[in-house]
Amino acid sequence: MGTDQNRGPAIEVRGLGKSYKKLEVLRGVDFDVARGSIFALLGPNGAGKTTVVNILATLQKADAGTAGVNGFDVYTRPEKVRESISLTGQFAAVDEVLTGRENLVLMARLRHLGNPGSIAGDLLERFSLADAAGRKVSEYSGGMRRRLDLAMSLIGNPPVIFLDEPTTGLDPQARIEVWQAVRDLAGRGTTVLLTTQYLDEAEQLADRIGILNEGRIIVNGTLAELKALLPPATVEYIEKQPTLEDVFFALVGDNGDDGDNGDGTGGSPGSAGRRG
Ligand SMILES: Nc1ncnc2c1ncn2[C@@H]1O[C@H](COP(=O)(O)OP(=O)(O)OP(=O)(O)O)[C@@H](O)[C@H]1O
Ligand SMILES: [Mg+2]
Repeated sequence: MGTDQNRGPAIEVRGLGKSYKKLEVLRGVDFDVARGSIFALLGPNGAGKTTVVNILATLQKADAGTAGVNGFDVYTRPEKVRESISLTGQFAAVDEVLTGRENLVLMARLRHLGNPGSIAGDLLERFSLADAAGRKVSEYSGGMRRRLDLAMSLIGNPPVIFLDEPTTGLDPQARIEVWQAVRDLAGRGTTVLLTTQYLDEAEQLADRIGILNEGRIIVNGTLAELKALLPPATVEYIEKQPTLEDVFFALVGDNGDDGDNGDGTGGSPGSAGRRG
């Protein structure tokens, strides 16, 4: 196996530019994602997160810049990039009339893997779907579907996984289940690039967070580094660290479309219910 592919970051993006007619969406996007880490791409609606993911997944072409995935250039080696990745979009790509197990076996066959039954069995265990393996997906909850979708995307062990808004529309319990599945993935050495609208999701999962705004990554760092950008706010007698949300809105500005009612000082984790 090409050992060169095992050095350097799993994802390297330099100067990526993309316009749709007159709309300049990406104006020089730069970031790296280290192997086995989780990188969260945050940004307001329309910032270009999905565009970045689609370019990295070879589904769209950039107008400028370079991008490498698993050591392969997305323009010159798109077939090697496609072998190295899986992409999970917002809508689960599972077949409703099949059972969970049948979906996994079908995908393993499509990928020409030997022993599809044992691959399916292993993934069903890993994603806590063994009990539901024989049920039709049409009877699954949203969280179960999403976990099945994640399991499907792991068939063939791609080293890099793109998750575009992996938990949008899920209830809190299902989100926590998906988060655990994503953490497990990274724990096994898979590199994860996820986009999310949920700031708490980035706080929970990401090793590094990049905020995409007006066509560029305006900050890129660990949660601690991002928090250090703002001084701690003082709440009564207790020093309160800024949340990622505070940092995000200070940098991006509040678009004022989500009924932000000021400084919720309750501080209870998981209470940021930004649900549409
Ligand atoms: N095929 C297309 N043709 C024209 N404009 C497009 C096309 N795809 C995306 N855009 C525009 O590019 C911008 C970035 O879109 P993109 O889907 O990448 O944003 P996003 O950050 O993923 O947003 P969201 O948070 O809503 O998913 C938006 O203004 C969108 O309207
Ligand atoms: Mg998007």
